[in-house]
Amino acid sequence: MCGIIGFTGDNVPAVPILVDGLKKLEYRGYDSAGVAYFKDNKIEITKSKGRLTVLEDLLKTKKGTDGTVGIGHTRWATHGEPSDINSHPHISNSGLFAVVHNGIIENYATLKEELKEKGCNFLSDTDTEVIAHLLETSYDGDFISTVKKAASRLEGSYALGILCKENPGQIVCVRRSSPLIIGVGTDGNYIASDITAILTHTRKIYQLDDGEMALLTPKKVTIFDEDGKEIAKKVEKVTWDVAAAEKGGYEHFMIKEIMEQPHVLAETISPRIASDGSINLDGIDFTKEQLKKVNRIYILACGSAYHVGVVGKYVIEKLTSIPVEIDLASEFRYRNPLVDSNSMVIIISQSGETADTLAALREAKTKGARIISIVNTVGSSIARESDDVLYTWAGPEISVATTKAYSTQLSLVYLFAIYVANKLNKIGDAEVKKLLSELNALPDKISEILKLAPQIETLANRYAYLEHAYFIGRNLDYAVALEASLKLKEISYIHSEAYAAGELKHGTISLIEKGTFVVGLCCCERLVDKTVSNIREVKARGAEVLALAVEGNDAVAKEADRTLYIPSTHEIFMPSLEVVPMQLLGYYIAKARNCDIDKPRNLAKSVTVE
Ligand code: F6R
Repeated sequence: MCGIIGFTGDNVPAVPILVDGLKKLEYRGYDSAGVAYFKDNKIEITKSKGRLTVLEDLLKTKKGTDGTVGIGHTRWATHGEPSDINSHPHISNSGLFAVVHNGIIENYATLKEELKEKGCNFLSDTDTEVIAHLLETSYDGDFISTVKKAASRLEGSYALGILCKENPGQIVCVRRSSPLIIGVGTDGNYIASDITAILTHTRKIYQLDDGEMALLTPKKVTIFDEDGKEIAKKVEKVTWDVAAAEKGGYEHFMIKEIMEQPHVLAETISPRIASDGSINLDGIDFTKEQLKKVNRIYILACGSAYHVGVVGKYVIEKLTSIPVEIDLASEFRYRNPLVDSNSMVIIISQSGETADTLAALREAKTKGARIISIVNTVGSSIARESDDVLYTWAGPEISVATTKAYSTQLSLVYLFAIYVANKLNKIGDAEVKKLLSELNALPDKISEILKLAPQIETLANRYAYLEHAYFIGRNLDYAVALEASLKLKEISYIHSEAYAAGELKHGTISLIEKGTFVVGLCCCERLVDKTVSNIREVKARGAEVLALAVEGNDAVAKEADRTLYIPSTHEIFMPSLEVVPMQLLGYYIAKARNCDIDKPRNLAKSVTVE
């Protein structure tokens, strides 16, 4: 995820403070970095693709970098590949405004067209550049009122740090749905997307709320509400140490990323639903005729991404009636698959670099299939080699065990399935509207589920020292059981297996004895009774059962030892809700066992070897 820093001081050079702040933000992941500062009453930009050392070397070659006001940014590409030109800051055509931006501007394409008509010249592929030009074309001689006017045109999420050539010594910032704080220092004042960036300079901060703006000078911070009215805010004192702050105050990246899910899910879903209710798959388009020719969809992936594919098979087949095969990429590549030019292949990968998944993609491509990938890392090999890419805008995932990438991948699979089903007239516009409204409601429902964390932590302490775990469920509950089981085993080192509940009696039930831990996923309403029967069977053999059920379903609690409840949603979206308590369960059990949660033994975040 991108990072922002800004500083305005009296006699202190800004650039070293900006670079130092950007270094503190490195842990968030980035592909390019840049700074803007004043030189000879003009705004100067230095930026480049690559690590911060590249930017530092570039700055060493420049003269006049000792100005006392500036803004800096680490970019994690969403719109446009990682490149020098796409890096932030972006500057308006006459050099009047420079801007750094975190978030996604959903209406950037419309604004771009409008600004082009006004004569603005665009250099980059980013959504951010529209903001620089919008500021320039909205300029009314007043820094704050110009920002207010421009911000009112933006849809989506943003945290902005802005310099204006006419107002040296000042920074204006504004935010909506993307974090931004202001640091009050002794030598000057700061803006940052993350406390980490400024913690060595100050612990006194203002937290900006949605829609609020601020004007910073070296001596003063003035905060305005959405209507431009000056407001008084309380300065808060940060008590975290620097190491904790890098994880945003969380103990591990994994729990931070679990907690980020409502936000990143909204970032991934909402820009793809247009105001007229249609689905916009980033320009990917299929005609009805093209889709009618598709004889089979293959989903290829590894690990958790494969588990997303298992959900995808159920959902895509249900909505589109196109047969779906889900394959482990490592198996697909060696089995001479019957893919042809009428096959559609969906590749799912967080890193976009997984060796087996990339090899499977190439295998499918040589057979003539159209390749659509769902990828988190912009410009990765899988993204580059696919015919079409859908990016999960989850931001960098640092914990080895995936959580937010899984959730955002799932949301794109849903959108894709609804899009195809509608194109094929398998579902009508009214049904699409109903489904999209449920999809849009998932982030809020996940926020509700995250409130279960303390309850799950208490439960986890009870289960932490068990040696084996079995996750059972049917249909989509089984698909989630696969992911829940992997989550637990990879970080806690407890032996765990997932079973389609109906399969238990074909062998595995012989392993159930007094005290065996079984998690029964009972959220697929149609099949709850069946799974409850399986719970009865394992209970009869002494199992200790934790169940997951939909609020209002009392039948499950009657059979299980303990039950966690989650809100209801449309059947096909249940996995998005079910997986969250399962991630928390794995996390808290691993924590109780004192495991190295973010870096489990023997595992790597990106598996680039076979
Ligand atoms: C498990 C996990 C892995 C990955 C798998 C594929 O928590 O993260 O199972 O899902 O290694 O990685 P990507 O998605 O990068 O292809």
